[in-house]
Amino acid sequence: MRKLGVGAISVFLVLFLSFAAYAGGAKEPSAAAGAAPQTKLEIFSWWTAGGEAEGLNALYDVYHKQYPNVEIINATVAGGAGTNAKAVLSTRLTGGDPPDAFQLHAGLEVEKYEPARYLEPLDSLYASEGLDKAFPKDLLTLLQYKGHYWGVPANIHRANVMWYNKKLFADNNLKPPKTWDEFFKVADVFKAKGIIPLVVGAKEGWEAGHTFETILISVLGADGYRGLWNGSTKWADSRVTKALETFKKLVPYVNTDYSALTWDQALQYLIDNKGAMHIMGDWADGWFTSKSYTGYGWQPVPGTAGIYDALSDSFAVPKGARDGANAVNWLKVVGSKAGQEAFNPKKGSIPARTDCSPALFNAYLQSAMKDWASDAIVPSVVHGAAAVEKWATIYKDIMNTFVTKGDVAATQMALEQAARENSGV
Ligand code: GAL
Repeated sequence: MRKLGVGAISVFLVLFLSFAAYAGGAKEPSAAAGAAPQTKLEIFSWWTAGGEAEGLNALYDVYHKQYPNVEIINATVAGGAGTNAKAVLSTRLTGGDPPDAFQLHAGLEVEKYEPARYLEPLDSLYASEGLDKAFPKDLLTLLQYKGHYWGVPANIHRANVMWYNKKLFADNNLKPPKTWDEFFKVADVFKAKGIIPLVVGAKEGWEAGHTFETILISVLGADGYRGLWNGSTKWADSRVTKALETFKKLVPYVNTDYSALTWDQALQYLIDNKGAMHIMGDWADGWFTSKSYTGYGWQPVPGTAGIYDALSDSFAVPKGARDGANAVNWLKVVGSKAGQEAFNPKKGSIPARTDCSPALFNAYLQSAMKDWASDAIVPSVVHGAAAVEKWATIYKDIMNTFVTKGDVAATQMALEQAARENSGV
């Protein structure tokens, strides 16, 4: 954590105490009264897909048990990775119409929302709730921006997972590929049989960037990949060229309707035994679970074993939230053991807290918990951790163009330029 000066600390304390006083001032209606909801809580997120919605509802249930007379307004804006939600949120924050709490990725994404101006710092809440001891160190570091905590994490997700249809692999006597060379061999077999080797849904504009960040990790390793975002690896590096060439080679193995499908629509190909593999974050595990589908296997994206491409969903509270007291209580529920144990098995993520019971989680999530504890952790760029939003957006746009144009040299130059122009922000 960056050290704060005494002045900064007192300014922050005054700000937080006035917020807490405001928050404490709103009366919590008593459960015994049994009356209709008297206060509200508007929660803003992009969780509408299978698994996402179930997880969020489970968290709402925990909140309702503790605060039965608060009416929750589920303000969702659909679109994976916050594609549409983030823009709506920005407009609401700058327009003076903030929700009470909103979904925020841990990491540099918070820069987009000008936290010093629009968000409540949460350092005191971390101290009073013991949150600074509840989460792993790597995550606590990621959660700090300009010396403050701005969100309370609900989970940890892994982006570099390759999901596969177990039956299709067994029927064809194939093993899930551990390297890209193995991948292309297996893919040729599936293709010859009319099975889509790699299922992709890229309708929302973030999915190509997601796939490519996992390929970058496979070619550059944990340190090399981290270096792309902190300046110690050059984007002109020949390994970036190799990663682009690998990505380009994947395209002919993908379903032709990829640009018409969202990530979850694409996953249906796996359930229908029409597609063999899919690269996606472990919200796919939540989606499979919501469909009661158990025919899937998993492993790290080829070449990324031992590396955990991580992101975390947190909730933040804007300054001037209408229902500040309810919002602070929401953050307490989000960060609590009960909240995380209810939410994560459905969401397909591992708890951010270290004291949750693994027995509540399915086999995939238990394996993810073990990997998190031993793997090298790297930050996801598409999901807010590695770079400021402006850079992440340009990166995504460049990768979308690459999928259609396939120009390796031009793409690498564009990526270099994006880093030059945005890395110092
Ligand atoms: C990520 C988010 C996940 C999941 C996914 C797809 O950015 O962190 O919780 O919702 O998008 O929407």
